[in-house]
Amino acid sequence: MKAFPVILSGGSGTRLWPLSRAERPKQFLPVVTDRSMMQETALRTAVLAQFCGPIVVSSEAHGDMVGEQMAQIGVQPSAILLEPQGRNTAVAIAIAAHWIARAEGDGLMLVMPSDHVINDLPAFHAAIETAIPAAVDGRLVTFGITPDRPETGYGYIEAGSAMAGLDGVLAAVQFVEKPELARAQAYVEGGRHYWNGGIFLFTARAYLAALDDHAPDIARAAALSMQKAAHEGVVVRPEAEAFCASPDRSIDYAVMEPTENKVVVPVDMGWSDVGSWDALWAIRGHDADQNSLHNGAVTIDSTGNLIYVDGGPPVAAIGVHDSVIVSTSVGVLVMPRDRSQDVKAVVEMVKRGA
Ligand code: GDD
Ligand code: MG
Repeated sequence: MKAFPVILSGGSGTRLWPLSRAERPKQFLPVVTDRSMMQETALRTAVLAQFCGPIVVSSEAHGDMVGEQMAQIGVQPSAILLEPQGRNTAVAIAIAAHWIARAEGDGLMLVMPSDHVINDLPAFHAAIETAIPAAVDGRLVTFGITPDRPETGYGYIEAGSAMAGLDGVLAAVQFVEKPELARAQAYVEGGRHYWNGGIFLFTARAYLAALDDHAPDIARAAALSMQKAAHEGVVVRPEAEAFCASPDRSIDYAVMEPTENKVVVPVDMGWSDVGSWDALWAIRGHDADQNSLHNGAVTIDSTGNLIYVDGGPPVAAIGVHDSVIVSTSVGVLVMPRDRSQDVKAVVEMVKRGA
C-alpha cells in the first residue's frame, strides 16, 4: 500500500502576530530554523523510502507560496489541495483521503500539522514504523506525548492495555480535546494520559469510514467537492460551494473523540507545538540572561525575554524581564511572556481598529 505524508497548512497562526499574519501565516515563516515550518515538516518524511511526495492541504490564498517553498527544498508534492476557505481539519484531511482513493484506491496517510518542532527524528521515524501495522489493520493511530504540564490547548488520550499482535501500540480508551484546566490537571497527575501530538496515521478508507459514521455532513461535503474538483497539474481545487457547506470542525472533535477505532503509539521525540510566543522563547536558544534575541536586539539588565525584530524598527530594552517584544512592518507587540495566549484577542482588536 502506498503511503503519503499529508501536511496541514491552512491555519492562520494568529497567536504569533505581528510576525504571523493572514497573508503569511506562521507555517510559511522561518521562525525556528532558517527553513519555514512547512518546509521542515516536508523534510521530516522525505528520507522515508516507503513514503511518496507529500499531499499539502492549504488555502487558495497561499497556493503559490506552497509551490515555491516546496521547490526551494527540492520536494515534489504528490498533490497540492487548495481550499476556497478554511473549514478546519476534519474536512481538510477528508479531501486528501479522497485524492488518495481516486489515485490509488487506498493508501496510508500520515497527517502532520505544519506548526510543530520534532527534535529527535529517529524516534519519530521509529514511531511511524511501529504505527504502520496498526494503520494497515484499519485503526486510527494517534501519537502520544508524555505531558509535562496541564496544557488546555491540546487533546488528551487515555491509554489502555497493549494491543495484541501490535508491538508498541496501546488501546486508546478515551480522547478528550482541549479539556478544562481542572480536568487537564487530573489527567497529568493520573499518569495514564498522553497529549495528542496532532499527528495521525490511518488508511484513507478507515478515515472516510469513521467520518461517515461520526460526521456525515463533513463526509458529504468532502466527497461532493472532490467529485467536482478542478485539476491543474498537481494543484487540485475542491468545488467551492460543496466544500464550504462543510461544518467547521477539527478531526479531534469530529472523529477522534467519538471513534472507538483509535489506538495510541507513545513516542518521546522532542516534540513541541510552536503555538505561541512563549513556546517559541522556550524552543529557541537563550543567552546567559535567558534572553532570546533576534536580529540584533540589544538589552541592558534584562532577563528572560524574547525580542524578535523582523522588518520593524530596532529594539532596545533596559530592565525588562520575562517579556516578549516583537517588531515587524505591520506592528509592535509588547507583553509579559505569560500573556502569550491573549495575542489572539488583541489581533481581533487591531483588526477592528479598537
Ligand atoms: N488545510 C487546513 N485547513 N489546515 C488547517 C485548517 C484548515 O482549515 N485549520 C487548521 N489547520 C492546520 C494548522 O495549520 C495546523 O498545522 C494543524 O492544522 C492543526 O491545527 P491547529 O489549529 O494548530 O490545532 P490545535 O493546535 O489547536 O490542536 C491540534 O493540535 C494539538 C497539538 O499541537 C489538536 O490535534 C490537538 O488535539 C493537539 O493536541
Ligand atoms: Mg497547533
